[in-house]
Amino acid sequence: MVKKRIGILTGGGDVPPLNAVIASAKQTSIERNIGLIGFIKGWSGVIENQYIDLSEINFNPLIGGTILKSSRVRLENAFGKVGQAEENIKKLNLEGLIVIGGEDTLSNSFSLPNVPQVLISKTIDNDVGMMNPCDGGINLEEITNYFTLGFPTAARKMASFVSLKEGLRTTAYSHERILVVESMGMHAGWLALSASMGHPDFIIIPEFPLDYDRIKDLIVEKYKKQKNVIIVVAEGARFNNGSYISADEKERDDFGHPRLKGAAETLSKRVKGDIKRHFDTRNVNGVNPSYLYRSGTASDLDLKWANELGREAVNLLSDELEKPVFLTIKNEAREFSIAPYHLSNMKSIKELHRFVDERFYNPKDFSVTELGKKYLAEIIDEIAEDEYGLT
Ligand code: F6P
Repeated sequence: MVKKRIGILTGGGDVPPLNAVIASAKQTSIERNIGLIGFIKGWSGVIENQYIDLSEINFNPLIGGTILKSSRVRLENAFGKVGQAEENIKKLNLEGLIVIGGEDTLSNSFSLPNVPQVLISKTIDNDVGMMNPCDGGINLEEITNYFTLGFPTAARKMASFVSLKEGLRTTAYSHERILVVESMGMHAGWLALSASMGHPDFIIIPEFPLDYDRIKDLIVEKYKKQKNVIIVVAEGARFNNGSYISADEKERDDFGHPRLKGAAETLSKRVKGDIKRHFDTRNVNGVNPSYLYRSGTASDLDLKWANELGREAVNLLSDELEKPVFLTIKNEAREFSIAPYHLSNMKSIKELHRFVDERFYNPKDFSVTELGKKYLAEIIDEIAEDEYGLT
């Protein structure tokens, strides 16, 4: 009897727990006596028939990034590519595919509704899921996909980078600086929000257009009291005239997203210019950790769920899954578990696009709500600073 085979791919921005998912899928496929091939560079490997037999490859699951490499390829808009992908999957005689990606990579699965697929979300933007509104707030247990892989690791770094114990607050108070720190996050402010666990003064996110005069006045007020200020700004934040704080609109990916970078630099320069008459502004600066949010090794929470998701994905495909399913993470009674979400009733992954709203964020004072902190506390620990006596 011919041995069954499945495929796996990683697309979009790399995150630290990807190799752990691949390793767990490999281990389970060996246990289930099913072949596992890894497509190279995400969906482009499917289109171009570039793959490796994972049983022949040894790698360290604890190393960040993806041994399968990554790309940002859109199947829908590329003439002939959907047909090519379908044909190659058929020729390779695959039972199905494990697709690991963010919103864009996962959206391609909707172009192949008849290919059995298990979708696993990964993105430091944490924007694939649903907060499921209910009266008077939100029930954390009702959240569809509590977090995306990679977010716990990046969120911890975000908080650490601004904190007093591990990050920028030490130089901010020593030199009486105003620091604007850039967070990643194209459309969603979840990563910027997670900075709250490291106590910045203000957080600016893409979902709420920025009233520049208001933030400038708040910065001046805070500086007068505290003699240092830390502002976190998401790369995808916009002014209230709709324009990005900083974007290179000429450089776009397959999905039409412009190259976003420089929000911290642009905003800090503008603030510097505008508050010159009040203060010595040599110490007003922008900082952009950029790819450091996505780099290095994964946190324990990311690793644990990378393992579980990789195993469950292979089990589902070995048991002859017929239609695409999204493996979400549920939080019940403060215990995470996997909950399959069937995609058959959805038209596009956009229905699972998760934005920050006023339940999680106070746009008036650029802060995170108590509920927002409660949500984040399940994923990362707060970095305590009161023991230092500086607050
Ligand atoms: O989609 C995840 C993400 O990290 C975004 O926050 C960011 O805008 C984007 O990837 C940048 O990706 P790259 O430079 O790899 O195209």
